[in-house]
Amino acid sequence: MFFALSILFLTTISFSSTGKIDHWSVGNIIITNPTIRFRLDIYSPTTPGSYPVLIYLPGLAGLVPTTCYTTMVTTIAQQNVILIGISKIENIKPEKISIHIATFLEWVMKPNDGATRLFAEHKAVKDVLPNMDRLGFLSHSSAAHSLGQYLNTTCGPLKLIIMMNPVDGIDPFGIVQDFITHPPTPLPFRTPTLIISAGLDNVSIGKKTPACAPNNISNDRWYRSLYGPTFFINLTDYGHADNLDEPFHEASKLMCTPCKGSICHFSQYKTDEATLITSFVHAIFNRDLQQLQIIKTPQIYLQSHVLNKYDLHGYNYTSGGPGGFCTHD
Ligand SMILES: *[C@@H]1O[C@H](CO)[C@@H](O)[C@H](O)[C@H]1NC(C)=O
Ligand SMILES: *[C@@H]1O[C@H](CO)[C@@H](O)[C@H](O)[C@H]1NC(C)=O
Ligand SMILES: *[C@@H]1O[C@H](CO)[C@@H](O)[C@H](O)[C@H]1NC(C)=O
Ligand SMILES: *[C@@H]1O[C@H](CO)[C@@H](O)[C@H](O)[C@H]1NC(C)=O
Ligand SMILES: *[C@@H]1O[C@H](CO)[C@@H](O)[C@H](O)[C@H]1NC(C)=O
Repeated sequence: MFFALSILFLTTISFSSTGKIDHWSVGNIIITNPTIRFRLDIYSPTTPGSYPVLIYLPGLAGLVPTTCYTTMVTTIAQQNVILIGISKIENIKPEKISIHIATFLEWVMKPNDGATRLFAEHKAVKDVLPNMDRLGFLSHSSAAHSLGQYLNTTCGPLKLIIMMNPVDGIDPFGIVQDFITHPPTPLPFRTPTLIISAGLDNVSIGKKTPACAPNNISNDRWYRSLYGPTFFINLTDYGHADNLDEPFHEASKLMCTPCKGSICHFSQYKTDEATLITSFVHAIFNRDLQQLQIIKTPQIYLQSHVLNKYDLHGYNYTSGGPGGFCTHD
């Protein structure tokens, strides 16, 4: 496929950061033919070194910018994982997003361009190396559908995936019926996967409105379709969009049931979710069984109440596991 890619306005916006991380935005990454615009938000440790990278496609397949999740993504970077959020994907139909994930991943891997150039041209991270051999993909809500559709065709450069509150279907409510998962039919790829669901995902705000992630098109539907090493964690007290920061979180309550009452500690929830994400990344890439223990027995390590299960599907983790990988049928 032919495409030309140029970065316009590479004047980046830096935000004040306490501690050892930096966040900057690149306003317009334009992939021409056809013209697609991405906005990138990069969160990175600033301590010199090489770090694994997560590409993040936020809720509503990138319509919600990564900056709506500042607490969670900042914590991820503080825990030594680089996160590159993609949003504001313009001029495209939701069902085409997987094609643009492909285009984006092809670009981000380029040795003299992509992530390498993003870091080389930003002073605050000049001795930080994004380790593109340790690349994962993080999604929220119906962004899982686009990721699933991409992986249905190819693994590309991805070596693990993490899906927060994954919905299958173009919209989170299941109004448009277009599924990539058909459990128990296996999806045609195997990769280490962490699914993080919320207990209130399938609770609707009112009798006449659908839940934000109805059970029959979400969470377990993915768990039962994935045949790589698959880990499932349910943060039982929280809701579908409780990982957003204010004021977006408040706005989300018009659609999605939030945690209610004195059990809710939203900042703790976002910290716990970030901890699960980075523990999984380090466990898989470093073949670190202690980190994996956090994923296998999360309740011992987290403040929030959790339920969990996992199915290794025959992959051997007795001494560290196979590392990051993705194989395709
Ligand atoms: C997923 O890939 C299979 C072939 O492996 C194909 O038959 C199917 O139509 C694809 N699903 C979607 C939704 O594109
Ligand atoms: C998560 O746990 C809650 C509380 O036990 C339960 O109602 C919900 O169905 C669970 N969700 C999933 C996807 O397993
Ligand atoms: C959510 O799903 C679980 C499991 O299917 C079900 O037991 C529970 O009643 C559902 N909750 C609501 C509010 O629909
Ligand atoms: C999921 O459940 C809802 C409500 O029971 C139903 O209307 C819808 O058709 C179901 N969707 C699928 C894909 O099973
Ligand atoms: C898993 O790997 C370990 C270490 O390489 C080996 O000792 C053990 O026999 C393997 N288990 C299975 C079931 O293959």
